[in-house]
Amino acid sequence: MIQVKMLKKAMTGNYIVPAFNIANFEILKGLILAIEETNSPMILQVSESAMNYFTDDIMYGIVLGIRKKKLPISIHLDHGHSFDVVKRAIKLGFDSVMIDGSTLPYKENVRLTKKVVNYAHARNVSVEGELGVLAVANDEGLLTDGERFTSPEQAKEFVALTGVDSLAISIGTNHGINKYQGEPKIRYDILKKIEKEIPNTPIVLHGASLVGKKYIDKINENGGNITKSIGNENLLKNAYKTHISKINMDTDFRLAYTSAVREYLHAHPDKYSPRDYGQAGIEEVKKCAVDRITKICKSNNKIKK
Ligand code: G3H
Ligand code: 13P
Ligand code: ZN
Repeated sequence: MIQVKMLKKAMTGNYIVPAFNIANFEILKGLILAIEETNSPMILQVSESAMNYFTDDIMYGIVLGIRKKKLPISIHLDHGHSFDVVKRAIKLGFDSVMIDGSTLPYKENVRLTKKVVNYAHARNVSVEGELGVLAVANDEGLLTDGERFTSPEQAKEFVALTGVDSLAISIGTNHGINKYQGEPKIRYDILKKIEKEIPNTPIVLHGASLVGKKYIDKINENGGNITKSIGNENLLKNAYKTHISKINMDTDFRLAYTSAVREYLHAHPDKYSPRDYGQAGIEEVKKCAVDRITKICKSNNKIKK
């Protein structure tokens, strides 16, 4: 279970393993270039909708291709919502899966997660569970803190009952481009309590994209119209010192890619080859990943050559 080893090393080593989503081929290529440049471990993760976009046969080829590069990469299913999608990812050669039962009633979440752990561990595949709800910004006000944030005591029970290898928690980050309604705030106080309750379990933070203003501005300067966005800039600077051992970023690479493609096409109205503007996207994704690896994860040069 290569991902478990990666995460445990990061947990005790004051760094975070970057878990970056691949939404298309160009983003995948940019991320691989960033690993090669930084000598960082990485989790390349694929959501169910990304898997559908690639289609299973092509996804299988991508998995084989990634393995052939012999880089420190773990391939992970992001936000699996059913037993069936977990089985599908394992069949495609993923070495780790997330089962996200966080929106189910607690007992149902435990039942489904335990079923996945039994199935996955028998196949040498590690499992990430989730407890607590990552609200989308608009829903923030609809949930009480008790409903939204992970309960430290329940986290202890959940890990013991399910046997998960890592736990995604909710301490204030949200998914997507517009993460917060008001003043962004991450509940590091809750994280400290969770760390005490599950001291040996690597913690996962979803919704960790910084959503840099630079990308939004570039998109808007080149014909885009993204008006509302509040990200995590500055909020995750010290996360590497905690038990957060895996951070999930997807939005940042979508923005990096789109901003570069828009800029390229605007500057070169005569160009039409997808490999021309695709290359601009790949380079921007690589730059963005190197930045997150070195500034937030501190995982550069953590792989011995
Ligand atoms: O956390 C969710 C990821 O950003 C995946 O999003 O289902 O649009 O690929 P997606
Ligand atoms: P962002 O939306 O902040 O990129 O988070 C991605 C994520 O959590 C994927 O699981
Ligand atoms: Zn997520």
